[in-house]
Amino acid sequence: MTTALITGSTAGIGAAFARRLAADGHDLVLVARDTGRLREQATELHDRHGIEAEVLTADLAQDRDIEAVAARLGDRKNPVDLLINNAGFGNKGRYLDVPMADELRMLKVHCEAVLRLTSAAAEAMRERGRGGVVNVASTAAFLPRGTYGASKAWVVQFTQGAALDLAGNGVRLMALCPGFVRTEFHERAGMGTDNIPNWMWLDADKVAAAALADLARGKTVSVPDPRYKALLGAAKLLPRGVLGGISSRTGRKYGPR
Ligand SMILES: NC(=O)c1ccc[n+]([C@@H]2O[C@H](COP(=O)([O-])OP(=O)(O)OC[C@H]3O[C@@H](n4cnc5c(N)ncnc54)[C@H](OP(=O)(O)O)[C@@H]3O)[C@@H](O)[C@H]2O)c1
Repeated sequence: MTTALITGSTAGIGAAFARRLAADGHDLVLVARDTGRLREQATELHDRHGIEAEVLTADLAQDRDIEAVAARLGDRKNPVDLLINNAGFGNKGRYLDVPMADELRMLKVHCEAVLRLTSAAAEAMRERGRGGVVNVASTAAFLPRGTYGASKAWVVQFTQGAALDLAGNGVRLMALCPGFVRTEFHERAGMGTDNIPNWMWLDADKVAAAALADLARGKTVSVPDPRYKALLGAAKLLPRGVLGGISSRTGRKYGPR
């Protein structure tokens, strides 16, 4: 029996990972801020799949909570075999419209927490000679899209570098880069989605399944859909300035309202 720890497990992509991993027989450590929702999720997954699901309430924008999750990942007596760093959010507004405190909170959750949790997990996994880490980034990592895109670009670069450094130690690291996924993300951020065409939306369960298949294949970056692979391939051919202009216009059209 193996154990997976998922941050941001109660909604969207994290909940899809939890459903999939529980169905495959993995025990889970579920991490988010809302204890009631975590307990409900743990009970449901236990009852449906017969797995053990621990609840760990943590706000990953808080140092002491990051430390608590890192301590759980470093617990040698109850090892975690797979870490999914998934918790994240969007901020409504463009650069200089977003309050500095919200920008800094995003960097804390998307970058600092991911660095500290990946490191706690990878150290223990390296000792055991096996384990996996999935860091949820975004296709926004490849576009000039403000602090959100920059934080996700950091996730991709960090994960690829760490994967190279740990190659041969039995620890797999992968950055997951989905496009638009139907979750609570946009509503929580107060972002309008009416203008996003249907074909651009991905299903969270399919994203989680594709991600786990890519991790098993040893990929270090996963773009879990052919439509977005094609879009990103085309974007690479464009000069950075042109790409910036399109990205900015797309942001105006599809982005925060
Ligand atoms: N949806 C998309 O279109 C999309 C596309 C590309 C990448 N992503 C990325 O995918 C990841 C998951 O997003 P989602 O779309 O599934 O969002 P979601 O449906 O809003 O779910 C977010 C999850 O993260 C938890 N969370 C948020 N802030 C947290 C914090 N400070 N500490 C601990 N947990 C926190 C939430 O629970 P609590 O509120 O209870 O803490 C919830 O479980 C994010 O990293 C996001 O950037 C999303």
